[in-house]
Amino acid sequence: MNDKSKVPTHVSIIMDGNGRWARQRGQERVYGHSHGVESVRACVEAAAENGVRYLSLFAFSEENWGRPEAEVNTLMALMFKSIAGEMEALKKQGVRFRVLGNLDRIDKDLLASIREAEAMTAPPVGKEPLLDLIIFLSYSGKWDILQAAKSLAKKYSTDPEGLDNAGLDEFGDLLVTAGVPDPDLIIRTSGEQRISNYLLWQAAYSELLFVDTLWPDFGKEEFRSALEEYAKRNRRYGKVK
Ligand code: FPP
Repeated sequence: MNDKSKVPTHVSIIMDGNGRWARQRGQERVYGHSHGVESVRACVEAAAENGVRYLSLFAFSEENWGRPEAEVNTLMALMFKSIAGEMEALKKQGVRFRVLGNLDRIDKDLLASIREAEAMTAPPVGKEPLLDLIIFLSYSGKWDILQAAKSLAKKYSTDPEGLDNAGLDEFGDLLVTAGVPDPDLIIRTSGEQRISNYLLWQAAYSELLFVDTLWPDFGKEEFRSALEEYAKRNRRYGKVK
């Protein structure tokens, strides 16, 4: 990727197809999730190598709490294991790790390890990380908009005029993604073509890319191809170009 202006600042991925990948191999769904962690590693490397500044991944939705308990537990255990195993390497690479979502629902030991990993990978004051890796956990777009609306209502509970004057930026700063630029490119793997209650507000002008590859098969090469596809897009933001 030579033209830096055509590299997306923020790439976000809906990682889909782990279950199907496992079934194709006669294995349980969780086998696909374990292999999915390797794709996460490959995409972090590919993002850093290609000058992407933010990589965010939809790891677990609010709706995913409704999956069988054993699968939910495996996904949370994978998260725990990945944090323990990968944080040193991420820190060395200059990657800042963050987790966003409705974390009230997360087990307290996992939450403690998340907070520890976030503190450990936070760069020194005044220094930018090479890459922000954001994991969306127990997240849904509608939940995010609702919690922001409640915060706005509370902020202006005694100031109706202030509420009338509140604008888009002020509202955006109450979402869990405050300070993170909206995704330029959202990729969904596995051939499904929907947004599944992901970054509903933040995706207003994202380029969408749906690829047939199942998540455990999505590696560096596929990530680079997605960047090439993005570079061909003509973004107009509702204007004429
Ligand atoms: C979707 O595939 C994938 C998930 C719900 C979980 C994604 C999680 C990981 C890759 C592992 C943990 C992540 C990190 C960041 C360490 P699916 O199960 O819906 O697949 P299917 O549609 O084929 O059933």
